Amino acid sequence: MKIAFFDSKPYDRPSFEKYSTQSGVALKFLEAKLNEDTVDLARGCDGVCVFVNDTVNAAVIDRLEELGISLIALRCAGFNNVDVRHAFGKVHVLRVPAYSPYAVAEHTMALLLTSIRRIHKAYIRTRDFNFSLSGFTGFDLYGKTVGVIGTGRIGRVFMDICRGFGMNVLAYDKYPADDPAIHYVGMDELLEQSDVISLHCPLTEETYHMMDSTAFDKCKKGVVLLNTSRGALVDAEALLSSIKSRKVGAACLDVYEEESDVFFEDNSGHIMEDDVLARLISMPNVIVTSHQAFLTEEALANIAETTIRNIVTFEKEGTCDNELCYRCGRIEDCRNQRPQKCF
Ligand code: NAI
Repeated sequence: MKIAFFDSKPYDRPSFEKYSTQSGVALKFLEAKLNEDTVDLARGCDGVCVFVNDTVNAAVIDRLEELGISLIALRCAGFNNVDVRHAFGKVHVLRVPAYSPYAVAEHTMALLLTSIRRIHKAYIRTRDFNFSLSGFTGFDLYGKTVGVIGTGRIGRVFMDICRGFGMNVLAYDKYPADDPAIHYVGMDELLEQSDVISLHCPLTEETYHMMDSTAFDKCKKGVVLLNTSRGALVDAEALLSSIKSRKVGAACLDVYEEESDVFFEDNSGHIMEDDVLARLISMPNVIVTSHQAFLTEEALANIAETTIRNIVTFEKEGTCDNELCYRCGRIEDCRNQRPQKCF
């Protein structure tokens, strides 16, 4: 199998080179993101390997099919950037459902602690030998209420971490787990009761802008919003207004709804065109990291191993547990209902 590896970065290569060499998969590393303009770079390959900010829309899928490419191997869990419905019957889509929920959950807590204890500000101050404490008063997490939206792999690890801090944990999930240890409440109650809200559900048509102005209005004054899931869960303009009105006390964002044009690249020498992002970053109570919650050695190794295993399994057996299919309604349950490949 020859795979065109789009949007490759130096930190991807060591782990992917290790596992692809072991299994005889040839990778063609490309720095370009996959989109309608770059799709022809995959000519001559059997599949493409893509990440969160590659564009796999209907036009790209049709062109991949014309090029005789039958496989899209996502090296991530989320697949909101892939038109899975359009891919059905044309190109098989594989993903890495889990690689390290700990990486993302731990980063989420790191952001929360950094924000509420002003570590990001203290770091800059002490480097300038300024040891003043003015403006650094934080608050204890112990005894506070955290609302976790999405209680899957990452949400549950994050809930455990919060329990370790002595927090009261509320949860909302459209498909609640059968777990008496999780205190599920309705979405409105979660918004009204939580001092901290953390998003861990996928981006779908239903969850798009779930944190909009109506949702922020229901929140406690001074709520801390954490988003390490997908940017478009949050209406960024509504967030900005809610920060200006002091309704939102702090926001920690590892993802941003328009991130694909900006994140993962060095834009330090450019004028930032995105006014909302620029304004958010200028706020003293906003921390933005550039979609790095997944970025641990353990996660990178797991991503590479599972992606290559998906490709090899699919080639050998014509099916793969990690294939995505929309046809069964709930995409992720497809293989439970039909063990064979999707088409
Ligand atoms: P998961 O599939 O294990 O859990 C997602 C949970 O969200 C499930 O319990 C599901 O029932 C729930 N859910 C689905 N629709 C919902 C809705 N409308 N309202 C409330 N809950 C809903 O996924 P996992 O592994 O926990 O990942 C969560 C998200 O984290 C992914 O979708 C991805 O977008 C994001 N992610 C971010 C990374 C980063 O580096 N920042 C890395 C990996 C994942």
